[in-house]
Amino acid sequence: MFSRPFIITQILIVAAILCLFFLYRAKQAPNVPVYGKVEDFKLTNQDNKTITLADLKNQVWVADFVFTTCGGICPMMSKSMSAINQGFAKYKDVRMVSISVNPENDTPEALKAYSKKYQANDQWIFLTGPRDDIQKLATESFKVGDIKDIVFHSALFVLVDRRGRIRGYYDGTDKERMGRLTQDLPLVRREIVLPLMPTINASLNGLAGIFLFCGFLAIRRRNVMLHRKLMLSAFSCSVLFLGCYVYYHATTHLLTRYQGEGIWRGIYFFILGTHTPLAVLIVPFILLALRHALRGEFDKHTRITRKLFPAWMYVSVTGVVIYLMLYVFKPA
Ligand code: HEM
Repeated sequence: MFSRPFIITQILIVAAILCLFFLYRAKQAPNVPVYGKVEDFKLTNQDNKTITLADLKNQVWVADFVFTTCGGICPMMSKSMSAINQGFAKYKDVRMVSISVNPENDTPEALKAYSKKYQANDQWIFLTGPRDDIQKLATESFKVGDIKDIVFHSALFVLVDRRGRIRGYYDGTDKERMGRLTQDLPLVRREIVLPLMPTINASLNGLAGIFLFCGFLAIRRRNVMLHRKLMLSAFSCSVLFLGCYVYYHATTHLLTRYQGEGIWRGIYFFILGTHTPLAVLIVPFILLALRHALRGEFDKHTRITRKLFPAWMYVSVTGVVIYLMLYVFKPA
């Protein structure tokens, strides 16, 4: 009913998706459950800048609800938050977020003075805004605090992961619970969030490599029709990759830089330095090889593809390796 190349294509696509899924699952900290999701918000920080949930995307953060004139639990909570701020100072993707529950009094200027009092660095942000918005955020998103009057706030610190999901509640006045928070935070921090476009691009590269390899095996078995279909599939994947790559870099001005040091840095730049020019260089040869093949000029086709095949394989495989080094096995 279905042709062999069709079935092979489907199996390869499903296998690629499953590999990515298991890779992703494997990185999820097993002992830190998910309690819920933080809904989008729009508040103002101590520097009078608007902060939304998007500003905390791909960062791990600890939130609490305090107010600057509070003489009760707030000083203890802010002292605990300050300790976390100092302890995680070298991890710039870890943030602290203190939200005022007395926004009428806690202007950005008041929050600025409060931040200085606790020697907050720029990882720790203090937020204020309309009372109703803060009330909603506390009770509906974070599920802490009094639903009638937010000023009767909770002492809980809330751990939020890179995807805006709540991963834990910890009493900010309890030393033992704070210890637990400092254990859970690095686990959640190590979880990866695969960015969509680079993941799609790497999958297309990987798929092109798999098609190429299978196409090579097919011609070794003298199965010309299968070879033709697999090689044309590899070509489609690479064209699709090129389109996605150009789109991604035309719309995203954010370049992900490799953070590794020592030998890994050398390896990374060697791979990148050979992958990029080769990827450009092979394009006319791919078109030429296809042209010869489709015209039946197989002697010319063979002459080109003997060099083109390993070069194209190298480009496809290194495309995946670069992605893995940048996003999956990235240094701490
Ligand atoms: C750009 C995509 C393609 C690549 C990379 C490619 C690659 C190769 C390679 C590596 C070989 C074996 C060369 C050797 O003997 O060492 C080969 C042979 C062959 N390819 Fe392709 N191929 C492609 C597209 C096609 C297409 C579309 C056809 C269409 C029919 C085709 C038909 C053949 C045939 C008939 C041979 C055997 C030639 C011979 O031994 O006389 N190829 N190809």
